[in-house]
Amino acid sequence: MQKVTIGFLGCGNIGSGVWKLISDFRYEFAHRHQLEITVKKILVRDVTKPRGFSLPEGVLTDRAEDVLEDSEIQIVMEFLGGEYPATSYILQALHNGKTVVTANKVALALHWHELQAEAVRQQVGLYYEASVCGAIPVIDVLQHSLGANRIDKLYGIINGTTNYILSRMAETGLPYEQVLQEAQQLGLAEPDPASDVEGLDAAYKLSIMASLAFHGRVTFPKVYREGITRVTDQDIAFGREMGLVLKLLAIAKRTGNQVEVRVHPTFLPKSHPLARVDGSFNAVYLHGHACQEMMLQGRGAGDMPTASALVSDLIRAATASVHQHPTFRNTEQPDPSLDFSQNWVTRYYLRLSCSDSVGVLARVSDCFAKENISIATMVQKDTGMPGRVTIVLTTHAAPELALQHAIHALDTQICRVESVIRVEE
Ligand code: HSE
Repeated sequence: MQKVTIGFLGCGNIGSGVWKLISDFRYEFAHRHQLEITVKKILVRDVTKPRGFSLPEGVLTDRAEDVLEDSEIQIVMEFLGGEYPATSYILQALHNGKTVVTANKVALALHWHELQAEAVRQQVGLYYEASVCGAIPVIDVLQHSLGANRIDKLYGIINGTTNYILSRMAETGLPYEQVLQEAQQLGLAEPDPASDVEGLDAAYKLSIMASLAFHGRVTFPKVYREGITRVTDQDIAFGREMGLVLKLLAIAKRTGNQVEVRVHPTFLPKSHPLARVDGSFNAVYLHGHACQEMMLQGRGAGDMPTASALVSDLIRAATASVHQHPTFRNTEQPDPSLDFSQNWVTRYYLRLSCSDSVGVLARVSDCFAKENISIATMVQKDTGMPGRVTIVLTTHAAPELALQHAIHALDTQICRVESVIRVEE
């Protein structure tokens, strides 16, 4: 039997899940893996706070060094979240020769190069399956299972909070603010929802996944990002009439060395496999030159789904004879061989508020024609407001820059752009 002593950094929702899963899994650790795991120290802010489960005397500590400097602790599991102090603690643990298992997408997305360099220097492991999509083993799939593929396209619904909000808006017809409040009351959205609804959480995760998919560092600032705060129930309803479903999509595409990485509200045809992923579920749909299309779906958050990824990583970390690291050059700067483009080509949905006067449609279509953008559909809706009409149009595939030029050329006296939503296939 191999005895492994570990420490936790944090014991909130996820840490409690990890403690429960480790306790529950003692028999399997022993019989499947010949492992005996002892949790020696758990760093918490308040050692007197009730935890809802019993812990042995003396395990809780409010001193980080009790975990980071204890020479008996071989593996540190981090679930504090956020950039600091988590990043410093992970670096210190690695520096002290400890393998780290983390759920921290922010530390990974922003400091991966430093963390990996230190892990390699100290010949220890750095495991982070839980940092992206909770229980879904997408990191392992990208890093190992699809190692014989050139991945050219990856679409992800990788934020459960926003997927819940958009699904619920579609189901009920209620406006964004009301559904957000409801999600907060149910504990499905944070009291401060910015990281989720502004697309930051998805952008961190996409930078990690795209780096693995494209074998080059795709840094966080390279990810174009728009959240869901301006999404309206009206657009969701108009989209539905056209057979489209709105998702906050994380998109990574590669053509040759040209790469696009973006997170924004996106209409998908209702026949797309991702269009049926509702509620707080996560899913990743990708295409590789050999594997072709693939979709992974599951729970992207929550104590036990996240613990599933963390404890599976713990088993791998404890039983590995050699710790493996991604083979791409993991540097602070984006991979110089990748050409990051923001002039992607896609279809667009636009909602315009126009004055109801002679020649308005002709003038609108003229602005698009001048940019060589072909209009696919154009529908005029009654607004109930005398003198105003709503025009909903979709375009054929067009470059982003051309679309932006066309929008800027619209005369604001006669026509206001209310929404621009990209449409993917
Ligand atoms: N807040 C995230 C989500 C989970 O809603 O999916 C943690 O990354």
